[in-house]
Amino acid sequence: MALFNSLSTRTFSQSARMSAAIQNVTVIGSGLMGAGIAQVAAQTGHKVTMVDIDDAAVEKAQKRIGDSIQRIAKKKFGGESAEANKFISDAIGRLTISTDAVSSVGSADLVVEAIVENLDVKKKLFTQLDQAAPSHTIFASNTSSLSIAKIADATNRKDRFGGLHFFNPVPVMKLLEVVRIPETSQETYEAMCGWGKAMGKVTVACKDTPGFIVNRLLVPYMYEAVRILERGDASVRDIDTSMKLGAGYPMGPFELMDYVGLDTGKFIVDGWHKEYPDMPLFEPSPLIEKLVQEGKLGVKTGEGFYKYNKK
Ligand code: CAA
Ligand code: NAD
Repeated sequence: MALFNSLSTRTFSQSARMSAAIQNVTVIGSGLMGAGIAQVAAQTGHKVTMVDIDDAAVEKAQKRIGDSIQRIAKKKFGGESAEANKFISDAIGRLTISTDAVSSVGSADLVVEAIVENLDVKKKLFTQLDQAAPSHTIFASNTSSLSIAKIADATNRKDRFGGLHFFNPVPVMKLLEVVRIPETSQETYEAMCGWGKAMGKVTVACKDTPGFIVNRLLVPYMYEAVRILERGDASVRDIDTSMKLGAGYPMGPFELMDYVGLDTGKFIVDGWHKEYPDMPLFEPSPLIEKLVQEGKLGVKTGEGFYKYNKK
């Protein structure tokens, strides 16, 4: 806890700046994705405020960031060294934590939302932030599957709204999907792409379609794996082994579902099923429903399809 700044100890300038270069970033949500986005932003020289409503989530995020940044520093500097320690302490020094979203956006150039995958909850948050953030602030959602246009509807800044979809684990995965809606201005789009590059990511342009590019392919693939299991055609381990050794994937579909979070997968598919009830690839899975009901959400709760040491 002591390593990180708390918002009350730092006063931000309240002046709104019209600048394309994004320097001050507020990340809302400190779960798997929010913590990763905040970490990489701090590592790449941005001033970052990471916000969560849940104190326990913030504690967990700090531990995750601490562990991850050590791995990054080790890789970057080839082991323990003064340079590695400086890299870590500089990054941590740029990171402030808060549990109050509204007061954390006062000097943000960019707000990246990475909270629960629920349209109403995201809209409620953005309505509040829209009133509190300076006019120049760009808003972005890291949603996996929801319509960016529907989220942006909650604000009066659709020209400064887009999707910034990162991948788990954020410090490692190189891709950033940049999603624009018809109202997103060219200036906003370029600022989002520029920031993605400053974060060390390769950006791709996506339309506001369900799952953008990666998840439109990946989520049906993972659910097809569950359907093979539900039909009794192969075991979890054999399916995972098959896709790793037969298709060269770094993780099998069940390992990946556990890694992403079964709840997140379920929110994605439930949302798509509601919107496209006739699409067989978007059918919910009874097995996933059961595991989520039992709180077996994957790595983050210690059990999903596999068992893990609780993190
Ligand atoms: N922080 C920092 N570094 C990390 C890390 C983290 N959280 N996780 C892994 N690493 C680093 C390790 O230090 C290691 O570095 P070196 O190669 O220099 O040693 C490297 O990454 C590989 O890690 P591991 O040896 O521990 O394990 P691995 O080789 O199995 O790789 C993995 C782990 C990168 C996660 C790999 O298994 C992988 O790419 N899995 C697939 C991940 C994926 O598909 N993500 C997308 C999910 S979908 C999504 O995110 C979108 C959505 O909306 C749901
Ligand atoms: P998570 O469950 O790990 O974390 C979500 C966090 O948001 C929790 O800590 C929760 O306390 C917090 N939160 C909920 N409501 C909040 C509010 N109103 N204000 C502040 N904090 C709030 O979820 P995650 O896996 O990090 O996913 C976050 C978002 O990123 C979702 O939209 C998800 O679809 C998307 N996403 C997830 C992955 C993945 O692999 N898990 C990958 C890409 C995108």
